[in-house]
Amino acid sequence: MNYTFDDIKNARNSLFTEKESKTPAQLLKSPAMGSLFELIKTLPNDQKAQFGKEVNELRREVASWEESEAELAVTPIDVSAPWDVNTHSDKRPRFLDQSLGSVHVLMSELGSITEIFERMGFVVEDSRQIDDDYHMFESLNFPLGHPARDDWDTFMTDEGLIAPAHTSTMQNRIMKKYKEQLESGEPIAAVIAGRAFRNEDLDTRHEHTFHQVEGVYVDEGVQVGHLVGTIKTFLTDYFGKQVDVKITPFYFPFTEPSFEFSLTCPFCAPESSNCPVCGGEHWIELMGMGMIHPNVLKEAGIDNEKYTGFAWGFGVERLVMMKNSIEDIRHFNSGKLEFLRQFGGN
Ligand code: DAH
Repeated sequence: MNYTFDDIKNARNSLFTEKESKTPAQLLKSPAMGSLFELIKTLPNDQKAQFGKEVNELRREVASWEESEAELAVTPIDVSAPWDVNTHSDKRPRFLDQSLGSVHVLMSELGSITEIFERMGFVVEDSRQIDDDYHMFESLNFPLGHPARDDWDTFMTDEGLIAPAHTSTMQNRIMKKYKEQLESGEPIAAVIAGRAFRNEDLDTRHEHTFHQVEGVYVDEGVQVGHLVGTIKTFLTDYFGKQVDVKITPFYFPFTEPSFEFSLTCPFCAPESSNCPVCGGEHWIELMGMGMIHPNVLKEAGIDNEKYTGFAWGFGVERLVMMKNSIEDIRHFNSGKLEFLRQFGGN
């Protein structure tokens, strides 16, 4: 009887498709495998050895599939991977073609924002999405039981872990990281971008999950004028036009003095009363800021007699909403394609 090596290839293919639902031990006992062994017996002696060798190789390969399964099970997966939801549950998920995806408007805007600060000489750092009481509160001059802690509507786990309610949670780490650089004569200049989480009542301007960009600058002789000038320069670049700004006294435990920072609506004429962006109010409150509290500098090991610094934190969504006349913050996470397509999404 004749045989071709295609018999082995065909058997391998059919075993491979069954591999999803059967263990290697079951596959080795399957009819496809059995008939290959039967075939060996019927072959002339001069062909037996070679064919037998190939069948044995296949047997070893099938037996090893379990190991590769086990390896697969412990390989970390990218949870944001764009799986095709139409993949059958009994098959390996397939990736969607890359051309079907696009960068979310918030991420592309965040890229433009951090790029402006990079051009101004700031380094860009990521914030984090889980933290502890020390970084979120204590290192920022909120002692345990401080009433201002309640203002941050913070999500916490039973174990005391915290979903940071602001990117200020990174201030202490950043100052410690760049402390030596500061002491060698170069200022600390960092922006920290990331998600923040708050137990908010949701409405057109409030989401439980949003993004902030924090700034930290420390050097000798830094004062409020430098802070206002930095932010004004940033806004002029971001909006592509001059904006007027004002600061009003405010309170944050981690800055002294503290301010609320507002800008004139870049999109309405001063006399208009029906601007879709500011609703005719002209001044838009944009962020909190101030001179870093001496206790916060000290907690990061920085000599607060010698150095002063400023910090700010603004919401990315609010800025992007202003620039693009978006009336409801909830559009960002809605997954609505008609919304995303307006910004080049697909
Ligand atoms: N973390 C504050 C918030 O989310 C904003 C803020 C205020 C950040 C003052 C700062 C700052 O760095 O100095 O409301």
